Amino acid sequence: MLFEEYTYFNHKFPDPQYLGAKHTHLAWIKKFIPDNVKTAIDAFAGSQSVAFLFKQLGFKTITNDFLNFNHQIGLALIENNGIKLTEHDIKLLLQPSKCKNDFHLIEKIYTNVFFEKSEAEFLDNFRANIPLLSNSYKQALAYTVINRSMTRKVTMGHFGHTQALRYASDPERIRRNRSLVRPLKEIFEDLLPKYNTAVFDNRQENRSYNKNILELLPTLDNIDLAYFDPPYCDSHADYQSFYHLLETYTEYWQDKQFINGIKRYEPQRFSGFDKKRDVIASFEKLFVQAEEIPVWLISYNNRSYPSVEDFEKLLSKYRQVKIETKTYHNGRGGKGSVAGSQEILFVCNPKKKHFISANQPEQLTNERI
Ligand SMILES: C[S@@+](CC[C@H](N)C(=O)[O-])C[C@H]1O[C@@H](n2cnc3c(N)ncnc32)[C@H](O)[C@@H]1O
Repeated sequence: MLFEEYTYFNHKFPDPQYLGAKHTHLAWIKKFIPDNVKTAIDAFAGSQSVAFLFKQLGFKTITNDFLNFNHQIGLALIENNGIKLTEHDIKLLLQPSKCKNDFHLIEKIYTNVFFEKSEAEFLDNFRANIPLLSNSYKQALAYTVINRSMTRKVTMGHFGHTQALRYASDPERIRRNRSLVRPLKEIFEDLLPKYNTAVFDNRQENRSYNKNILELLPTLDNIDLAYFDPPYCDSHADYQSFYHLLETYTEYWQDKQFINGIKRYEPQRFSGFDKKRDVIASFEKLFVQAEEIPVWLISYNNRSYPSVEDFEKLLSKYRQVKIETKTYHNGRGGKGSVAGSQEILFVCNPKKKHFISANQPEQLTNERI
């Protein structure tokens, strides 16, 4: 490892709270990254934990997630090579907004759902001030830290349930997690330094995208390594239901309906990877699009659809595949990570080219079907 790369590891990735985040598996994943990588893509980046590892390794890092709140983390911590939020910026964010009247979505929809009125109003006011920050990296940091503050404040770190306020008045729960009753402003001020110090320059032009990967991949080239960590289909990994509030806050939707007890936005974005009826066709498309990328690492789980065996069969049409496994000993929430289930990494290399015979014209073949 070069000295510079070593120093990039002084920057700690702030602990995420995101279903399926790989921050606890990074040392294991790193073992399967070949030596000669210059450019890598984290195609389904979520909390950006793997993209952050790529950046630390000195790679030109391309990162992508189809949800905007995750893309904001990508802008703040991956694409951004040096801009931080200052005391002046914090004052700007916390000041009473002059355009308050245009910003009351959170108060209107989520008061007494996830927050009391005063906290919902705080969020609207903060959101109204974000565009006052002088550039998109500062704005991305503001979204990243306030969104993370919201996951801290609600029970279980997601918005797929309506127990937040009930738990916030349960002394036993509060004893275990004081964030339930801490003001969002305080949580934000506590978290911000951790994010500011995670901003660093790896001397590459890193990029964060907010696209469906099947639209993005055909527009990119010269990538040496692709990391694919799609939703674990059929294992309740419903990102848009769990984190709808963060997407709504970031987008500040004016044209959606807010449905069910949790007030999730509708219609949702189309993933292609989260429903049984779409997932096989989406993988087929993805693997054809990724043909030119020499190495693919694919995270998977033994409780997903299709099964590990069927997925290996599918992959083997395109690649030489090796399966690496790591067993969970502690469940961390979500069916995808219960104790005893396995984290799986498909390590995929190009099929070996071979000579058929010296006197046949089509000497060099590629075994791909
Ligand atoms: C298993 S999570 C990734 C977790 C991530 N590796 C981490 O460490 O946090 C899958 C992610 O894929 C995203 N996603 C789902 N469908 C997508 C699509 N078609 N294109 C891009 N991203 C997608 C979801 O928003 C979710 O964040």
